[in-house]
Amino acid sequence: MANPFTLRVIAPDAPFCNRNKELQDLQRHAANQTNVVVFSPRRYGKTSLVKRVQASLEQQGFLTCYVDLFMVTGLEETARRIARAVWTVLHRHESLLAKGSRFLKIFSTFRPVLKPSAENGFTLSVESVSTALPGIEVLDKTMEEFGNFIEREKPKLHFVMDEFQEVTELKEPAVEGILRKHIQHHPASYFFVGSRRRILLDMFNQRNRPFYRSAIMYPLDELPRPELVPFIRERFASEGKECPPPVAEAVSQRTGQHPYYAQALAYHTFDLAGPEVRPEDVDAGFERLLASERYAFEAMVQGLTGPQISLLRALAASPTARILSSDYIARHRLTVGGVQYAQKKLLQLDLIEKRNDVWQVVDPVFAIWLSRY
Ligand SMILES: Nc1ncnc2c1ncn2[C@@H]1O[C@H](COP(=O)(O)OP(=O)(O)OP(=O)(O)O)[C@@H](O)[C@H]1O
Ligand SMILES: [Mg+2]
Repeated sequence: MANPFTLRVIAPDAPFCNRNKELQDLQRHAANQTNVVVFSPRRYGKTSLVKRVQASLEQQGFLTCYVDLFMVTGLEETARRIARAVWTVLHRHESLLAKGSRFLKIFSTFRPVLKPSAENGFTLSVESVSTALPGIEVLDKTMEEFGNFIEREKPKLHFVMDEFQEVTELKEPAVEGILRKHIQHHPASYFFVGSRRRILLDMFNQRNRPFYRSAIMYPLDELPRPELVPFIRERFASEGKECPPPVAEAVSQRTGQHPYYAQALAYHTFDLAGPEVRPEDVDAGFERLLASERYAFEAMVQGLTGPQISLLRALAASPTARILSSDYIARHRLTVGGVQYAQKKLLQLDLIEKRNDVWQVVDPVFAIWLSRY
């Protein structure tokens, strides 16, 4: 009996809970050549969702490029990842590639290198043509040449830049300007995807920033309970286990309908349960979940200062509308100055947020872990 729950990015043809409206909205924006910022806390299913959008766009004849900017280390590497994303999609569309070598000449900055691989025929990597050019010029040229390609070939084009906030970590003020300069002229739809919401929102909503108001802001919420509960039950049933509605409800409720945690708790619960899932299995599953997430939580806390950890703990134990009230500060042994600095940093890291006017820890399971230990 295989476990029907998954902790990975969900492939476009694998079972997926809801997101029907999001899929429709995003496909429409793509077809309209509109740029969109898709943002949410971590592990809400952004990547799975945009991959699904792209799979459907492919069927409608779009070329869909996907670049992951996670831990990108410089401008040259940003350009390299973009070039690779473009060549990867052209390589997949063999008929396009067969049209001639002109596709291979899109970029003068890089050349594609195909190496045979055991799994799927070939792997594609990218080599620099000239190492002498500064990174900034490589990125500028790569984006310009990509624009020329779009103009020449006129494909219906959709481009996802995942973990887009990472470009701000490059500490190269020019990067946003260069990307924006080219993207604004591309007849295509770009999706900028990320989970550091403060950073992304600032990038697209501050007047002095190149991307100011250049995209639709599209937040992603947790999964709706009426969809999640039957989804959990069906998944259990698909592998022969009966999960009564109140038990599925408990999985949904204990994780606050958080997409990843709902899957992860259901995964552990499935592992523990017999043919009929019991509430105790969910309790035991939750302990397993905490035990396995512990390492990620420890890493999240590791880089923080004392006052930041104190504020996190305070908000985990008691979310509040009035973070700076003297009562709250005294009760949690905080200081006004400490809270102000810590609040700013924790917001940047997307560890805390103000939701329905209440300050709280973003990640519901992290909050439970913090208040326990
Ligand atoms: N619609 C959904 N139905 C069921 N499970 C989902 C759904 N969306 C996301 N998940 C669960 O959430 C997990 C995280 O998904 P994904 O990696 O796409 O999120 P993400 O927002 O891109 O995460 P990150 O912030 O880490 O990049 C998936 O492995 C899956 O378990
Ligand atoms: Mg992702």
